[in-house]
Amino acid sequence: MNTFAAEQGSYWIETAPQGDPHPSLDRDLTVDVAVIGAGIAGLSTAWELARTGRGVALLEAGRVAAGVTGHTTAKLTVLHTLVYERLRRIRGPEAAQLYAQSQTEAVRRAAELVEELGIDCDWEERAAYTYAEDTALVGELMAEAEAARAAGLPADYVTGTQLPFPVAGAVRVAEQAQFHPRKYLLALADDLHRRGALIYEHTRVVGLKEGEPCRLTTEGGATVTADDVVVATHYPIFDRALLFTRLSPRRELVWAAPIPSELDPQGMFITPEQRTRSVRTAPYDDGQRLLIVTGEHFTPGAGHVDRRFERLADWAVEHFGKLDFTHRWATQDNDSTDSVPLVGPLPTASRHTYVATGFGGWGLSSGIMAGRLLTDLISGRKCRWSGLYDPRRLGTVIREAPAFLRHQAQVARHFVGDRLPSVPSVSVDDIARGDGAVVLAGGHHCAVHRDEDGELHAVAARCSHLGCLVAFNRTERTWECPCHGSRFDPDGNVLQGPATGPLERRNV
Ligand code: FES
Repeated sequence: MNTFAAEQGSYWIETAPQGDPHPSLDRDLTVDVAVIGAGIAGLSTAWELARTGRGVALLEAGRVAAGVTGHTTAKLTVLHTLVYERLRRIRGPEAAQLYAQSQTEAVRRAAELVEELGIDCDWEERAAYTYAEDTALVGELMAEAEAARAAGLPADYVTGTQLPFPVAGAVRVAEQAQFHPRKYLLALADDLHRRGALIYEHTRVVGLKEGEPCRLTTEGGATVTADDVVVATHYPIFDRALLFTRLSPRRELVWAAPIPSELDPQGMFITPEQRTRSVRTAPYDDGQRLLIVTGEHFTPGAGHVDRRFERLADWAVEHFGKLDFTHRWATQDNDSTDSVPLVGPLPTASRHTYVATGFGGWGLSSGIMAGRLLTDLISGRKCRWSGLYDPRRLGTVIREAPAFLRHQAQVARHFVGDRLPSVPSVSVDDIARGDGAVVLAGGHHCAVHRDEDGELHAVAARCSHLGCLVAFNRTERTWECPCHGSRFDPDGNVLQGPATGPLERRNV
């Protein structure tokens, strides 16, 4: 097996046009709505708002559609593993119905836009399946099929699929879709630009003053004044309402390899077994399809990423035969405690700041749904599912308690444990080339990486968000925070929030 010859990087980013660069913001600006983050949720929201005639500025810390959305598996479906039975139990049958309706509308909305704007994004209609190989899960799958049907979805329980291995059972929902996420979003950004919206790349927002109007400040010192602000940064960068107590970050790994077209299983598949396995294909060269396999979720900073990649590759080969992997990458998701995204007003005194987060691995349909929902709220229109997704919801706290407490225990372990003098640290001399570790120097924890040339890169080891200790991901050469998932490059620059500031340079 040729596992690690595969290129490290997202297939979606490599195969989409680079897109015209957008400027970074270097002046003060006044708009109706400022949207922070140009992934699926931010772009969809900005586009829907611009369509209503609002003056919109979209502010992105990196490049458009190159962050989390550029690393997804890009399944657009209403079947979210086993969500309907859980939702019915935790939040009641009406919530399950509203979830099904809102996600169905999002899938339809994307199809409409592809048609209307003539977007060339490898759109393919496929059935979605949640399956299990282990017969012990059959009861759960049957219950999910029944709950999904009761929620109004055309869901079936089936015992056969076109996967090249037997399954014990599966839930199936027809007429879902898969596509190339970055091609879709770049086309949406072009149309947004044509509609007169302002798009800024390499513009990191670092401050928010809520009020009427709201004021944002950027790292470069510009001020954006806006009646309303949407925080669509995956994990919210502004979180005075402590939403992070209800969000857990997780990373997942992805492998891609060409397979002959006749082996295409003709569907989008997921199983909760073995820390999740997800399968889809995409168009590829010369009558081949690209098999894309995702799984092995883990908390950022948990380490052993090479071993996890290896386990996932072994599984793919065991289930699909010999594969020559061409790409591998990693993605990151945020799970909410009740499995429902948090989309709506930030629960603070401000009535003009909105958030979209907690998509739990289903960011494409939920991001598009968030665009419609936030546009309705900002425009003063009613939306039937605003209560379901309202970040201020409290009614489910008791039933969410087990997931909430599990997450809190883990974060508390880092908040408290990372501050004890007994935190293990190693000597700088012990750090091999290509590796990194937290060391104690002058009474401070330093995050030290030794690059392939032997040069040391040392930065503060306390995350600039809320101070947990970061850990080194040797495979991706990043520092990762286990508390809320911030990620930094070896020189401490922010790759992914909620942190907005770098890890300070240190001398060791
Ligand atoms: Fe919150 Fe690091 S991401 S403390």
